[in-house]
Amino acid sequence: MTEQTSPMSAERYAESLYAQDEMLSRVEEGIRANGMPEISIAAGYGRLLTLLVKLSGAKRVLEIGALGGYSGICLARGLEEQGKLVSLELKPDFAEVARRHLTEAGFGDRVEYRIGEALDSLDVLEQEGARFDFYFIDADKGNYVNYLERAIRLANPGAIIVGDNALMHGRVVDPAVTSNSVQVMRRFNQMMATDPRLESTLLPAYDGLCIARVKG
Ligand SMILES: C[S@@+](CC[C@H](N)C(=O)[O-])C[C@H]1O[C@@H](n2cnc3c(N)ncnc32)[C@H](O)[C@@H]1O
Repeated sequence: MTEQTSPMSAERYAESLYAQDEMLSRVEEGIRANGMPEISIAAGYGRLLTLLVKLSGAKRVLEIGALGGYSGICLARGLEEQGKLVSLELKPDFAEVARRHLTEAGFGDRVEYRIGEALDSLDVLEQEGARFDFYFIDADKGNYVNYLERAIRLANPGAIIVGDNALMHGRVVDPAVTSNSVQVMRRFNQMMATDPRLESTLLPAYDGLCIARVKG
């Protein structure tokens, strides 16, 4: 019988180069054990978040959408000693799981969870005069453009803005799909690409990742 060989995907090849990350595997197990959706950021983009936080020297990071803390750990790993992560999450039970995982990973004292609608939390942060050096946008897609506007408003010069799921599993590039969330994501990608306040790129691997820098 002839052996069937098929090329592995570029993403699988990239993942095969890295040792299993024990802490992040525990987070994935915790997410499954708690019956939460398995929609954490792709491992390769998690590593990119760590690198971007480190390379940018960001001290104040804002995450929109905590889930079980997978991306939170990736962001926190990039922070310097005095750095801080603020994470916005709608569901108190999800934030509790995320907090537990961040604490297990040694970042319990670096993270603050704010529970509720992210737009409401952003209002409060704005009233408090909060400013951020780094954003990771990864919650309800229908609000991505609103989150981007808020992020720019609360940004220190040179801040980095990252948005996950820019391709929405191919739906964004399919003209037949006209759902609200897909249309908002198209507007988000367009704004990241053309807004004069930003310089950016869109990485089309995994589910697509948009990265911008707020001009100083
Ligand atoms: C894709 S998951 C986040 C995954 C996480 N960033 C990671 O990679 O580990 C989206 C999260 O956003 C939360 N969420 C959804 N709508 C929200 C809203 N309006 N405000 C705040 N959080 C929201 C969900 O409960 C969920 O935990």
